[in-house]
Amino acid sequence: MKKLVVLALTIITLNCYSQGDNYKQNYKKFEDLALTPPMGWNSWNKFACNVDENMIKQMADAMVTTGMKDAGYTYINIDDCWHGNRDSLGFIHPDPKRFSSGMKALADYVHSKGLKLGIYSDAGSQTCGGRPGSRGYEFQDAMTYAQWGIDYLKYDWCNTEGLKAEGAYKTITAALRKAGRPIVLSICEWGTDKPWTWGQSVGHLWRTTGDIYDCFDCINDHGSWKSWGVMQILDKQEGLRQYAGPGHWNDPDMLEVGNGGLSVTENKAHFSIWAMLASPLIAGNDLRSMSADTKAILTNKEVIAINQDPLGVQGFKHSMKDSVHTWLKPLKGGGWAVCFLNRSVLPKSFQYDWTPVIDTVSKRELNPKSTVYTLRDLWLKKEAGTTEKPVKATLAPHDVLVLRLTPKK
Ligand code: GLA
Repeated sequence: MKKLVVLALTIITLNCYSQGDNYKQNYKKFEDLALTPPMGWNSWNKFACNVDENMIKQMADAMVTTGMKDAGYTYINIDDCWHGNRDSLGFIHPDPKRFSSGMKALADYVHSKGLKLGIYSDAGSQTCGGRPGSRGYEFQDAMTYAQWGIDYLKYDWCNTEGLKAEGAYKTITAALRKAGRPIVLSICEWGTDKPWTWGQSVGHLWRTTGDIYDCFDCINDHGSWKSWGVMQILDKQEGLRQYAGPGHWNDPDMLEVGNGGLSVTENKAHFSIWAMLASPLIAGNDLRSMSADTKAILTNKEVIAINQDPLGVQGFKHSMKDSVHTWLKPLKGGGWAVCFLNRSVLPKSFQYDWTPVIDTVSKRELNPKSTVYTLRDLWLKKEAGTTEKPVKATLAPHDVLVLRLTPKK
């Protein structure tokens, strides 16, 4: 009898210890969710806080009817301000007027279109738009998102006084893990605490800068903070490319293509550069009413293929000559993408002589001496000779020439 009591006590004790083990968290993101940069749409750049379920549904419809889905765009992401209040048990609810059918019904709708739904929260007490943040509710919110059928979470960094970024983002990763639904985690910490140094195992993409502003080459000074034009954001990517790769991407912010602040030429350049940077391609315009030019840019499958190349190497600035910058990106199978960008407000003529280049990050070699590459112009969509002759072209102000190099057999 005595032996039985001891045995029972031992089992109870061991059980307590093993339950204690359950509190060990898994701080590692779900793998294999973003092996190429995520592609989708987000409400913020165009609509800011003016979001509701009808608009989101229409955007999902437009994603399909415009050919965006066919071009590879998958995520429909609701940014800030979808929130209502927390209930007496702490569960978050969407704004009952703007999302009266509830998030589960919206996710079902988006899924029925073959697309995925993203949502937004914040590591602090409140979002940047003053809605309830997830601080202290991380596990509850992650569980709620999983129950709703959410596929992507953008997690912002406003009102986080006293928090350390790495720990705060690891907490939401552990919460998403615990909730069990594979959800892409977009770390939106603006690069302040160098997320590229700790984010690889925590999230799938991390913002490298403050917010983009809808201009090509300007800074918008809001007083206590600034937002940045396309060229300013580009210059801030310096030194970060070695941190990006399949499953973990530098995020220079969502696209402004088609939002009115850029000319057609500038939209084309913006999109080409984001492709070269292996950046997430998250459109930020009104897909329901975009112009033919905007649609042609966003759905250029050959430029998208540069961005989505499975090798997953972020491009690099190779050289600069009289305002024409040359960007290179190694591709799977020995090919390369080359983007010539005219940063000047004047037209520029240039000549580019093909010379050997070794990428110090990927160790890939572009060797026009030992290999002849055929050239294809990805905006004119036509063959453009070979690397046996130099490239000679004139670029309009802020224009690009994007070539795909394929080794000739
Ligand atoms: C921050 C983010 C933006 C957007 C807004 C929403 O500024 O960086 O991308 O999500 O918050 O309030």
